[in-house]
Amino acid sequence: APDVPSPDELPQACRHHQSAQDIHYQKGILENRSSNFGYKGSAELTFPIIDLDGTHTNPTKRREIVDKVRDASETWGFFQVVNHGIPNSVLEEMIQGTRRFFEEDDEVKMQLYTRDLTKKVIYNSNFDLYSSPAANWRDSMLCVMAPNTPSPDELPQACREILMEYSKEVMNLGCLLFELLSEGLGLHPSYLKDIDCTEGLSVIFNYYPECPQPELTIGTTNHSDNDFITVLLQDQLGGLQVMHQNQWIDVPPTPGALVINIGDLLQLISNDKYKSVEHRVLANRVGPRISVASFFFTGPLPTGKIYGPIKDILTDKNPPRYRETTVKEYHDHFCGKGLDGTSSLSHFK
Ligand code: SIN
Ligand code: FE2
Repeated sequence: APDVPSPDELPQACRHHQSAQDIHYQKGILENRSSNFGYKGSAELTFPIIDLDGTHTNPTKRREIVDKVRDASETWGFFQVVNHGIPNSVLEEMIQGTRRFFEEDDEVKMQLYTRDLTKKVIYNSNFDLYSSPAANWRDSMLCVMAPNTPSPDELPQACREILMEYSKEVMNLGCLLFELLSEGLGLHPSYLKDIDCTEGLSVIFNYYPECPQPELTIGTTNHSDNDFITVLLQDQLGGLQVMHQNQWIDVPPTPGALVINIGDLLQLISNDKYKSVEHRVLANRVGPRISVASFFFTGPLPTGKIYGPIKDILTDKNPPRYRETTVKEYHDHFCGKGLDGTSSLSHFK
């Protein structure tokens, strides 16, 4: 690839094993990784942006917002929010704090290095380094902020104050989003909170260094998230793409906005009404790119709570599509297989 040879140009001994079809397939992967960068999408594929202003004060506006959140969650599995209540200064300082952490000396970061996923602070660069088919072009660190909130001195010194403040703000926003998502399912606003979707919050910090040959690798392999919802803060560089109508669409960096996406566990309990959609991050010649992803779920913590399709939304015509599971079982399955480009959801059918 890219100029597909005819079979008789290939070595006779093995020409039939690498068919033209395989070569087209490989060519597709490379094209998807490189020349698709910067693709803005056609006019009808405008990535949804939802203005949350008025959610608490104006019932008419709230109904419109619930409709938009439901539509975006059903069709894209992704949307951005503005006027979400978190000050810009907090978002900017969270990006700067993340940069400070990753740009510290290795000796400092090494003190937080562990591959034990039950720890509250984990610096391991790639959680799936030993299980994934390929390492991603990024460095990551995880802090578990709820249900057992760490004391400030357990957190990385470079960003501990802003992380405490940011995660409190994200928890408030998460509570509002779960209300809107509950209403979108025709349930009481507190339904998803009452079944403890807001009990756990893990924050993953990503640092994507500049990459000299981005067409040969990827920042984050395509995957769907294994939580209820994710609140993502990204800087202005771009590179995040979501799969929509069989194409990769850029998530445009929007100043002051946060990206929200539905995770596998919310797709499971909503019985496929809300979609957990594949996404990826391209490697880029320009860097570093910084992102902060806040995951609403309790991860590997053995809470014992059982989740299955919500009984109140099931009918004869909408029978359960998944078996019951725990967040821990789902998390263990997801982490065991690593980012291999396949979804874990089918394992729970
Ligand atoms: C991820 O989905 O794991 C990372 C998203 C991002 O860095 O934008
Ligand atoms: Fe993700």
